[in-house]
Amino acid sequence: MSSSQQLTIALSKGRILDDTLPLLKAAGIEPQEDLNKSRKLIFDTSRDDVKLLIIRATDVPTYVQHGAADLGVAGKDVLMEHGGKGLYEPLDLEIARCKLMTAGPVDAPALSGRLRVATKFVNVARRYYAAQGQQVDVIKLYGSMELAPLVGLADRIIDVVDTGNTLRANGLEPQELIATISSRLVVNKASMKLKHGKVQELIERLGEAVVNSRKES
Ligand code: ATP
Ligand code: PRP
Repeated sequence: MSSSQQLTIALSKGRILDDTLPLLKAAGIEPQEDLNKSRKLIFDTSRDDVKLLIIRATDVPTYVQHGAADLGVAGKDVLMEHGGKGLYEPLDLEIARCKLMTAGPVDAPALSGRLRVATKFVNVARRYYAAQGQQVDVIKLYGSMELAPLVGLADRIIDVVDTGNTLRANGLEPQELIATISSRLVVNKASMKLKHGKVQELIERLGEAVVNSRKES
């Protein structure tokens, strides 16, 4: 955990960052420099007691679980895959909304035998098909899952879907909904106890920012 006087918040580069910064600003936290123009990974903010870490989306729960960051912002998809150990999830930030779905080729013939499922969400995939009593081979990929059925690597994929454009462009269609997704504020369990006042104040201010941005949209 960072020192008792400090709060460290883990954010991910990419689409979540663009949606998170206005909420942090409304809660009184602004980075001291342009995050997109710097190669730095740790940033001071307008508050002496708050620092930001900029890391990969999938790494956010890990930093927060181990207390390297007190708080973080991560997609529910990433949190489901991580499992949530050592984390509280006190606030839905209502940003980066999408759906976690299975998808497959349009008009694919019925399949016999074990389904091959390509995804970066391997834990989610195993849990999902186990709950349905279906035996599957899960193939771990790190991105561009849509390619896998096109080249015979897999029969299905599990990925996040928003407009459906990426699936359509690759001759795939959404099939089953696994979960509706948005980004969440997560808090290290020890930080929640040991830095309770500061953490609680930030949760409340971010909660107000979420309500206000809901009113504006
Ligand atoms: P990593 O770099 O760790 O592999 P990533 O490339 O998936 O992660 P982003 O593309 O920035 O990272 O996505 C971050 C989060 O945004 C995802 O975990 C998901 O919750 C959400 N997300 C992903 N794609 C979309 C989309 N098309 N529309 C809305 N939200 C999305
Ligand atoms: C995400 C996701 C899908 C796409 C879905 O990729 O992995 O490919 O968005 O969005 P759509 O339904 O609106 O097309 P992203 O754009 O984040 O690129 P990435 O593969 O580099 O993560």
